[in-house]
Amino acid sequence: MAQSNLYSRVLGTGSYLPPDRVTNQDLADRLAKQGVETSDEWIVARTGIHARHFASPDQTTSDLALIASQNAIEAAGIDPQSIDLIIVATSTPDFVFPSTACLLQNKLGIKNNGAAFDVQAVCSGFAYGVATADAFIRSGANRTALVIGAETFSRILDFNDRTTCVLFGDGAGAVILQASEEPGVLASALHADGSYSDILCTPGNVNRGAIAGSAFLHMDGQAVFKLAVNVLEKVAVEALDKAKLTPEDIDWLIPHQANIRIMQSTCRKLRLPQERMVVTVGEHGNTSAASIPLAFDVAVRDGRIQRGQNVLIEGVGGGFTWGASVIRY
Ligand code: UT7
Repeated sequence: MAQSNLYSRVLGTGSYLPPDRVTNQDLADRLAKQGVETSDEWIVARTGIHARHFASPDQTTSDLALIASQNAIEAAGIDPQSIDLIIVATSTPDFVFPSTACLLQNKLGIKNNGAAFDVQAVCSGFAYGVATADAFIRSGANRTALVIGAETFSRILDFNDRTTCVLFGDGAGAVILQASEEPGVLASALHADGSYSDILCTPGNVNRGAIAGSAFLHMDGQAVFKLAVNVLEKVAVEALDKAKLTPEDIDWLIPHQANIRIMQSTCRKLRLPQERMVVTVGEHGNTSAASIPLAFDVAVRDGRIQRGQNVLIEGVGGGFTWGASVIRY
């Protein structure tokens, strides 16, 4: 039974970006060689993105997750062997199976201690992961969770499709959540509507040794944009209501980093000053499930997010899925 005085507290955060930083101009030059036209001006004006990082050919999602996790474990000051729940949010797993979480558990040298599994909610994956870990911890089932968003989206980008390939990047972010009587995750809200599955998808599968369908990301950008702007405000208000807080109580908003225009619109709708929003989309691009924990870690390490402050995280993505959590840091 859930214990009402038990919270999941963020003990530490970590992140990792692969070293290959690709500016808009670098990308435009590469694409021009194959006859695909884009420009730094277009990408900045429409998205706020200036650069993204791409994993090297030999780096997998679990490799990125490993370094982010090690940084979070170090920041939390815990023994990795005490981690009894690993949740990896990813849409670009190393394999069909086993899960990236199991591969990561092994890379961390943790053996047979609790559960490890992936969650698949695309860009909302980290919000789903935090809400899931919080439910496990509050139920008393687990004590110390490692929640990671990790992606190698460059592997599913069609570099002949300029409407998508300029938007995404690779990276990983992680948090350690631990059972505590001090407030941590205050409330979460999750949603899904599968009737919108076709507006953002990678509609392929492995079938008899080959890929059936498409292994590339497809997106109806304008449909996603409209839906995102609508649901992000609603889910933020829902999570705040559950936490018995209002937007004025929020010190930091960490939205999914897909497009600065969507982020600014959410901030305006919540009547939050733009200075209270953590923005990393310019340097990271859209790293899907990794974007929120990457931004979280950046703002913890540069001293913006302080102990005792209220942080609102929220994500939206393929599925269609969306979710938010209010966290007392
Ligand atoms: O992470 C999951 C959530 N994903 C999102 O939140 C993404 C949501 N969608 C968006 O962020 C925006 O819809 C995009 C950034 C994808 C596109 O911005 P937009 O303002 O909706 O542009 P658009 O699709 O209306 O395209 C405008 C023009 C078109 O040309 P015409 O038809 O007006 O002549 C496109 O062909 O821009 C053209 N275009 C480009 N031009 C240069 C599209 N992509 C590019 C490009 N470079 N990379």
